[in-house]
Amino acid sequence: MNEQAIPLVLLGQAVQRLRRGELVAIPTETVYGLAADARNVAALARVFEAKGRPAEHPLIAHLASAADLAQVAREIPAAARRLAARFWPGPLTLVLPRHPSLPPELTGGQDTVAVRVPAHPVARHLLHAFGGPLAAPSANRFGRLSPTSAAHVRAEFGDAFPVLDGGPCSLGIESTIVDLSGRAPRLLRPGAIAAGDLAECLGEAPGPPESDAPRVPGALARHYAPATRTRLCGSDLVDGDLEGVALLLCTAAAPAGVETRRLPPDPTGYARGLYAALRELDARGAREIRIERPPEGEAWDAIHDRLRRAVAA
Ligand code: TXA
Ligand code: MG
Repeated sequence: MNEQAIPLVLLGQAVQRLRRGELVAIPTETVYGLAADARNVAALARVFEAKGRPAEHPLIAHLASAADLAQVAREIPAAARRLAARFWPGPLTLVLPRHPSLPPELTGGQDTVAVRVPAHPVARHLLHAFGGPLAAPSANRFGRLSPTSAAHVRAEFGDAFPVLDGGPCSLGIESTIVDLSGRAPRLLRPGAIAAGDLAECLGEAPGPPESDAPRVPGALARHYAPATRTRLCGSDLVDGDLEGVALLLCTAAAPAGVETRRLPPDPTGYARGLYAALRELDARGAREIRIERPPEGEAWDAIHDRLRRAVAA
């Protein structure tokens, strides 16, 4: 395990802050989240303000246990129960009909709510101790790379709120999002749980998002993006003048004298290191980051999704 234990006194202080409507950054197994009381409208406003996130973009509610689902969803379809039993706690977010007691600010005014039960022990302890749903979008400014360590959150927000340091995130990219609020399941965001495993559990493959699906940040063309101009490369990876170029490699040989980060050629290792590597390269002041296109295949789908959004103009 790479998760660090958090002293109980810090967890207790975090719960007190959350009860007062203040923010706390928390580790999850996917990425760090910026947590707030999901039922406190003033706390939710602080999340949108800190992230610079448009108010119509909905947040994910996090629960201590699937047994608490009825607190946030007014209907729990059989498919939701099956997926929850198989994949929670874990990196799966379900979109379900919203419980009327939730503030519309949580869901960007939509009639659905996104919910997940995270697996990271610190997040679980905190949720149990808090005793209600916590909203927690990724703890980054709107459109930027998600943080996979406490240091990433501090680099972006300074001491604006405390960060519970649970070590580096074991998965490294955001949860898979499945919409179960319509007639058929839809995959809104690929993630650590592969579409094939969802299909096996659901008895049908989740379809693509509807074209009139809510406009949500993780679905915007440019999102999860470095500030530096970034390109996804094939055989043109090392073409031309490499002065001022930084490289993110997977299997290609590293040219001498070029700022380079390397990620493992397996999807688990690649996802775990992706955002940290992009952040490091982004901080080098390069004129361009070039990413060697990683392998194809279902296990790489979530990585290709994030890379497409990182390089979108
Ligand atoms: O792994 C994760 O999901 C992380 C950790 C912290 O749990 N959280 C995360 O939150 O990535 P955020 O807010 O950065 O991304 C949540 C995504 C957004 O694309 C949001 O628009 C979408 O979930 N979402 C939230 N509520 C929704 C809803 N009712 N319908 C459709 N999409 C929704
Ligand atoms: Mg995010």
